Amino acid sequence: MVKNHGLAGIVVDETKISSTKNAHLIYVGYPIEEIAQASFEEVVFLLWYKHLPKQTELVAFRQDLVNKMVLPAETIRLLLYIAKEPQHPMSILRTTTSLLGTTNDVEHDEPPKILAKMLTAIAAIIRIRDNEPLMEIDPDLGVVENFLLMMTGKKPSKRLAKMFSTVMILHADHEFNASTFTARVAASTLTDYYSCLTAAVCALKGPLHGGANERVFEMLETIQQQQIDPLKYLQDQLKAKRKIMGFGHRIYKDGDPRARILKQIAAELVQTTDNQVYYQLQIKIADYMFARFNLHPNVDYYTALIYHCIGLEKETFTMIFAACRTVGWLAHIMEQRQEGSLIRPSSVYIGPTGRHYLRRVGDH
Ligand code: CMC
Repeated sequence: MVKNHGLAGIVVDETKISSTKNAHLIYVGYPIEEIAQASFEEVVFLLWYKHLPKQTELVAFRQDLVNKMVLPAETIRLLLYIAKEPQHPMSILRTTTSLLGTTNDVEHDEPPKILAKMLTAIAAIIRIRDNEPLMEIDPDLGVVENFLLMMTGKKPSKRLAKMFSTVMILHADHEFNASTFTARVAASTLTDYYSCLTAAVCALKGPLHGGANERVFEMLETIQQQQIDPLKYLQDQLKAKRKIMGFGHRIYKDGDPRARILKQIAAELVQTTDNQVYYQLQIKIADYMFARFNLHPNVDYYTALIYHCIGLEKETFTMIFAACRTVGWLAHIMEQRQEGSLIRPSSVYIGPTGRHYLRRVGDH
């Protein structure tokens, strides 16, 4: 009998990118609490090239990424059509990621161009859904500022850009999580980058993975707008055997280190955006979940409120997760292609055996 369903605790390969050993998250040797203070571009460089860039390298890397945050005219033309469809934005992103890999000039696309295009495409989907004009990059700004500018139509303040950069870093990688492992399985067949990323987006979409952030805000909105007693809401959900979104983690049983940092960012952002009521509600829910079940918030819990404070629609939240995690996906695809072999595990067959097929006269 297989005891470890869902591959829990099974070590499937080695990686030099990130680790969650002993529930401490590290990126290429740096604790998340420290590396979260770096710039986003520094962390991208670190995860891809395994060392921090020198100042001159960083400036050149940042400029290169920003210059590449432009989509081919053909992609924009198709996006204007696809993104208006009434499907979930993650379904639109799934198609878009595949689309990015089907234009004429993609054969030689390398990770910097692929990341830049993903960020711009995600921002464009948001603008198109909002019926807002697409924004051009500002070459004098960094990647995070440009991403915010292209999503919201406004140049962010330095403080907002810094906070959002931390959010992006915290989501950038997480060892062999479901979507990253999916990307690695695809990469292990030596398929192309865009195919691997499309597979990863599909895995991230689910509510047990990246899709949780949207559901967290849905819960907060329902409780707030319908003036429901939050504890009664939780009890009813649990009685119906539904998971409370944004709580629990396969690795972090004593709390997700990313959630601790995100909580502080949410606490600051709600002050300037008048969303204190949601934050107070989150604290109440978290206190109950801990006292009653010893469950802690995960990365998706406070992120939901952060994205709301930035002015994003809840349906787009998981796309932002995808934007950030593209960094890690690309790091793992590179590592898998360079150092891995075909991923093809085995299973224990538990179906019937010993059957025989006898063709009956008159059949067929
Ligand atoms: N609400 C209620 N009960 C929970 C929750 C939750 N959010 N999370 C875990 N539990 C209970 C679960 O019912 C089980 O209880 P019992 O042992 O009595 O059956 C016990 O805690 C262990 O949970 P599990 O589901 O077996 O643990 P897992 O490691 O398989 O699951 C998880 C981890 C993230 C899938 C799960 O905690 C969950 O479904 N959480 C809600 C969805 C969510 O927030 N997902 C985001 C995960 S973090 C970011 C990411 O990966 O994208």
